[in-house]
Amino acid sequence: MKKEKLIIIGASGHAKVIIDIVEKQDKYELLGLIESNPNLEKKVLGYGILGDESILSESIYNDVYLFIAIGDNWIRHLVKDKISTLNPFIKFATLIHPSAQIAKGVKIGDGVCIMAGAIVNSDSSIENFTIINTKASMDHDGYLGAFASLAPNATTGGNVSIGNFTSVGISATIKHGVQIGAHGVIGGGALVLKNFEDNQVIYGVPATAIRSRIMGEKYL
Ligand SMILES: CC(C)(COP(=O)(O)OP(=O)(O)OC[C@H]1O[C@@H](n2cnc3c(N)ncnc32)[C@H](O)[C@@H]1OP(=O)(O)O)[C@@H](O)C(=O)NCCC(=O)NCCS
Repeated sequence: MKKEKLIIIGASGHAKVIIDIVEKQDKYELLGLIESNPNLEKKVLGYGILGDESILSESIYNDVYLFIAIGDNWIRHLVKDKISTLNPFIKFATLIHPSAQIAKGVKIGDGVCIMAGAIVNSDSSIENFTIINTKASMDHDGYLGAFASLAPNATTGGNVSIGNFTSVGISATIKHGVQIGAHGVIGGGALVLKNFEDNQVIYGVPATAIRSRIMGEKYL
């Protein structure tokens, strides 16, 4: 079967994990990576740097799939907008590690990555450009808003809703039925037992709102 061509944006540790998914999924031919300050000598796990984002305006890239391997939810969004302006024809791949478990009725958008050992249970909706990191789990009827993320080992019960751009930290646990607003940050190890509004930094056991944050504030 002929493989589609793929380029990864970003060359960080997150990009390395994405390369592993691409190789294991064996669905795309990886042409290389794009970095904003390109070092054309550099290789990441054997793949070269092709240049910076500006090369994507060339029509030869119209048929290539792209994956934005940037962990920060807000920066990923800014880069997506920039690329779509440079070349509106570009398509975004969704990458799913073969060891991830995706149940019946799950909807998954574009530009999503679902990493090794992750579980997405029945009838959940995973919106565009989200990250479900290593061994994270979203249980049945869950909702992960656009550009949101679950860090490694984060766990949600059934019917949990997570707003756009919200980051759920490493090993955080969210009780079934809880709703978290947009642009939030849930700290590592939090145990979230109730709903929280938009723009909150939340952590602790049980988790409380520690402070509010502005949209796009750095958190990684
Ligand atoms: C919540 C978080 C974003 C930091 O929030 P912050 O308000 O900027 O917190 P600070 O780093 O300034 O720390 C302030 C205090 O809160 C404590 N604190 C920070 N995060 C905490 C957490 N998750 N749980 C409990 N306490 C925490 C710190 O120890 C510090 O305590 P101290 O004042 O007694 O020293 C960060 O600690 C966190 O948990 N990030 C998740 C990282 C992650 O999931 N990474 C995986 C990426 S794939």
